[in-house]
Amino acid sequence: MARVKPKPTDSSLRRLERAARGALAHSYSPYSKFRVAAAVLAGSGKVYSGCNVENASYGLCNCAERTAIFSAVAAGERSIRAVMVYTPTPLPTAPCGACRQVINEFGPDALVICVCDSKNTIETTLPSLLPGAFGPGDLA
Ligand code: THU
Repeated sequence: MARVKPKPTDSSLRRLERAARGALAHSYSPYSKFRVAAAVLAGSGKVYSGCNVENASYGLCNCAERTAIFSAVAAGERSIRAVMVYTPTPLPTAPCGACRQVINEFGPDALVICVCDSKNTIETTLPSLLPGAFGPGDLA
């Protein structure tokens, strides 16, 4: 029988939020001036963080979520259980469409939490953000 992974614990989510908030200082966003940081809880239980990294050639800007996920994958992780996004704004920011697709690759059932500088939060899941997603299974 397939082993069902338990929901991330409150303590791992607190760790994740701390990592996301801590990564904001590294945001490289001189063009949009919109700072974003993210952290992901990988299958191993380790947390990887990232920030948005912009480029003078605007189309090459990389979102915080993808920076964090690519860093996890580059460290050998292949599954993502939760994604935390932090923006220093009054309202939380949800992952863009491209990031939703990248989250789907490694965390099709991932919990997605977006926090900001007020008590407003978004708590959702990847299937709610990207219903009917195209993914690795479609190529089988
Ligand atoms: N951005 C993210 O990093 N994550 C999101 O979920 C939305 C947008 C970045 C990309 C760009 O550097 C800036 O925010 C403005 O779009």
